[in-house]
Amino acid sequence: MHKDVKEILFSEEQLKQRVEQLAAEINRDYAGQELMLISVLRGSFVFMADLVRELTVPCTVDFMAVSSYGSGTSSSGQVQITKDLSEDISGQHVLVVEDILDSGNTLSYLLELLRARKPASLRLCTLLDKPERRIKPVQLDYTGFSIPDAFVVGYGLDYDEHYRNLPYIGILKPSVYGGEE
Ligand code: IMP
Ligand code: MG
Repeated sequence: MHKDVKEILFSEEQLKQRVEQLAAEINRDYAGQELMLISVLRGSFVFMADLVRELTVPCTVDFMAVSSYGSGTSSSGQVQITKDLSEDISGQHVLVVEDILDSGNTLSYLLELLRARKPASLRLCTLLDKPERRIKPVQLDYTGFSIPDAFVVGYGLDYDEHYRNLPYIGILKPSVYGGEE
């Protein structure tokens, strides 16, 4: 285990199993349709890569990046698009793939923006959800795991751009970000 990780929440094996289950739900729900997956960079790149390889429905992928101004371990209500999609989503069945839903600030803004582009349908798949932290309501269609209010890293998730490469999801030691143990 990495020295900055306090506890492993989900092992590689647990993540693999849950991703397979989510993909099975998505394959069933979108049977007979074509799906456009939108990954929100950077945190969701690992989840997206694993999820897409379990999908059997025809799909395309696109990427966008947002920064929610705010530092440390929380986002702010101000969201900026730093990289927009390459494709037009109008008339497409769109599934947004996110790493984690926390306050909901980022996703409520993003979903509103995407809805205005008139997709045929718009759903949200997030690997992790921290319901206790919600400030803005966001409708979740597919959730990997609900987790308590702790700052987690690994499997794409970062703290200050580090730890994305860890193959598991772990709780970061609060001492790393100057919090209380
Ligand atoms: P929200 O706007 O507060 O919902 O924040 C969503 C974004 O904050 C996520 O896409 C992550 O990039 C980041 N975030 C929230 N909680 C965590 C965490 O526990 N670990 C790593 N990143 C997090
Ligand atoms: Mg993110």
